[in-house]
Amino acid sequence: MEALNKRDLDNPAPFSSFSSAGLIIRQKEPKNLEAPFDRIDSYLTPTELFYIRSHFPTPDLDRAAYRLRVDGAVRHPFTLSYEELRSFPCETRVATLECAGNGRVFLVPQVQGAQWELGAVSNAQWTGVPLSALLERAGLAEDACEIVLEGADRGMPKEEPLPPGPISYVWSVPRAKAMRPEVLIAYQMNGRDLPRDHGFPVRAIVPGHYGMASVKWLTRIEAVREPFHGYWQTSDYAYWVSMDGKPVRRALGEMKLKSQIARPRVYETLPPNRIYTVCGAAWAGETDVIEIEVSTDGGQTWAGAEFLDPVRRHAWRRWKFDWLTPARPGQYTLLARAKDASGVVQPQEHDHSYGVYVINHSLPIEVFVSDSERR
Ligand code: MTE
Repeated sequence: MEALNKRDLDNPAPFSSFSSAGLIIRQKEPKNLEAPFDRIDSYLTPTELFYIRSHFPTPDLDRAAYRLRVDGAVRHPFTLSYEELRSFPCETRVATLECAGNGRVFLVPQVQGAQWELGAVSNAQWTGVPLSALLERAGLAEDACEIVLEGADRGMPKEEPLPPGPISYVWSVPRAKAMRPEVLIAYQMNGRDLPRDHGFPVRAIVPGHYGMASVKWLTRIEAVREPFHGYWQTSDYAYWVSMDGKPVRRALGEMKLKSQIARPRVYETLPPNRIYTVCGAAWAGETDVIEIEVSTDGGQTWAGAEFLDPVRRHAWRRWKFDWLTPARPGQYTLLARAKDASGVVQPQEHDHSYGVYVINHSLPIEVFVSDSERR
């Protein structure tokens, strides 16, 4: 792990040592591929190692025929071609995307859904037009409360309750967030045109929110006056909140504070009495990660780790911790916990109101310390 330097940003995919490494297949079709988190050494995840989470087969969109419609609760609806979109002033930002199901394999007992390990999270540089610029041009109505983003992919979802027929991938973003400068209608990732699986030619990037909000293959932006209750944010990516003791279903939104250990890997064998550099990355939604602690004894004692990357809102910070491995062979449990700028500490248990999502507690990494040759 090396500290963030200018080269990371100027040359977004410089880590040629990873070019032969691949994504880990969780599902072939639709594509659900995990980044090899233990091999992510660069601040920006090389595009070919960025995780892919798609609900339907990847649509094949043609740049020349591409149109983006902006309508609904606006005074001047309009349609843009790809070239017209690119003629707007653009912004480039680094943002971490994490799928809300990342780390699901750690839930006990095992639950349904893709068994993501640690790699349904990646960090990239995105270039595009702020969504707010398009909404301003359209003349967003005063009483519009959400912005509905619609993708070109369609199909029949798998989770009950099933809709009556095929649907597209749609997600709504609250107005206040949609107007924030960081929300982009992006056409580049790590300095190159978006690859097909990441939303070519155009996708939304909603930094700070779980990945489900960053709609790929974006074809329509619709402002609405009533909260949108589409399939994805009610049946699927939703959780329970208690209102006056009564459970109410809410769409997932902001990413929760989280830190993950990248190395060592689960069940890795390490030599005794040696310095081993434990490393990982941490991120949060609308706050900054300011502290990391590591435990090598299952959470009994904790020690501070060192950051490799500066604070940059919505982007992860890699960290490292030099561990003198015990002289005594045996099994050891490593944990990492992050603290954010408001003093919130990463939890040690999964919150069941999030069901099979938001697995942001400290995930135990079991390792063996052994001096045997079988390492
Ligand atoms: N957008 C469309 N149109 N279709 C999808 O299936 N998946 C969402 C989001 N945007 C999805 C989508 C989910 S669940 C995640 S986590 C992110 O895309 C993943 O983005 P990536 O594949 O570029 O990593």
